[in-house]
Amino acid sequence: MKTIIIAYASMSGNTEKMADYIAEGIREEGYEVELKSSLRTSVKDLLKYEGILLGAYSWGGVPDEFIGLYNELAEVDLNGKKAAAFGSGDSKYRNHFGIAVNLINEKLQERGAEVILEGLKMNLAPEGNDIERCKDFGRQFVKKLNQEKQAEKSL
Ligand SMILES: Cc1cc2nc3c(=O)[nH]c(=O)nc-3n(C[C@H](O)[C@H](O)[C@H](O)COP(=O)(O)O)c2cc1C
Repeated sequence: MKTIIIAYASMSGNTEKMADYIAEGIREEGYEVELKSSLRTSVKDLLKYEGILLGAYSWGGVPDEFIGLYNELAEVDLNGKKAAAFGSGDSKYRNHFGIAVNLINEKLQERGAEVILEGLKMNLAPEGNDIERCKDFGRQFVKKLNQEKQAEKSL
């Protein structure tokens, strides 16, 4: 089984930058990661991976570029998968800041995935400290994935 996939939607490049930095963090931990546009990803692709990272910017809710994949999630059982969500938003949307991240997380849980990290939301493009936060999200995802695997083995 392949290890980690990042499937993301990004219209103006902010979420894509997050995805690239997260991938850097994952690779630093010695893991391979496949980066794919959500438009070119089907749920069947996701099932080939142990760890699933889904990223989307917010557009009132889940953006059009991500909605196909989001709707397809309703058809699969993600039990045993480890997952997390991330995405860029704009803090001026206040209560709806990064709303797509919340919706994706809810969907992942509803389908039985174990969400092993709190969703990562960023205001517009990752800059300064945010870059490190993205890389760390990738590193932490690998660490948690390993911890969960160890815990399952010892059961
Ligand atoms: C019509 C419209 C609706 C938006 N809705 C939201 C929203 O509900 N919540 C939010 O946090 N950001 C919202 N945004 C801001 C985008 O999510 C933000 O610009 C983001 O950085 C875009 O990411 P991307 O570069 O990956 O496409 C909206 C932007 C537009 C133009």
